[in-house]
Order: sequence, then C-alpha cells, then structure tokens
Amino acid sequence: MADLAKVEIDLSKLSGKERDKAILRTGIMAELEAINLYEQMASMAGNELIRQALLEIAREEKTHVGEFLSLLTEIDREQAEELKKGEAEVRELREKLSS
Ligand SMILES: [Fe+2]
Repeated sequence: MADLAKVEIDLSKLSGKERDKAILRTGIMAELEAINLYEQMASMAGNELIRQALLEIAREEKTHVGEFLSLLTEIDREQAEELKKGEAEVRELREKLSS
C-alpha cells in the first residue's frame, strides 16, 4: 500500500482537462491510501479515544474519495461509463453465483 504513494505523476507534462483528470485520480489514490493508514492505525491504537478519532477521520476520507470521484466522473465520461459497466459485471457475476 505504501508503495502507491511513491508513484510519481508528472502533472506538468499534461495540460487542461487531462491534467485535471490526473489531479483528481491522484487525489483519489491519496484518500484511499489515507483510509488504509487510519484504519490500520486505529486497529493498533491502545487508547479508545484515539481509536475512535482515527475511525472518524477514516470515514471523512471516504467522503473525500466521493468528492474526487464525483468531480472526475463529471469531466471523464469514459470513466463514468466504465464504472457503470463494472457495477453491471459484478451484478451479473453475483446472479450467476446465486443461481
Ligand atoms: Fe482527505
């Protein structure tokens, strides 16, 4: 997980809408990584107040994922369509497994 943060994205090589898409994708990656980090730290914390605070912060990061994803799907229609396709594929797989 930590290695993801080391992936460097050269935003200066992109411009306009492509740069904005890359910024939003990078934001999503950072938020997802933060969720993993906070949840992992929560499971390790000895103090209950600290544990609860970390879980609350992790929840807030999930909202941030939603904000970035919402912004991304507004400007990347292909991503929006592929998200729908992904959901449909999982639905099909679930139906296949339950029949
Ligand atoms: Fe965040």
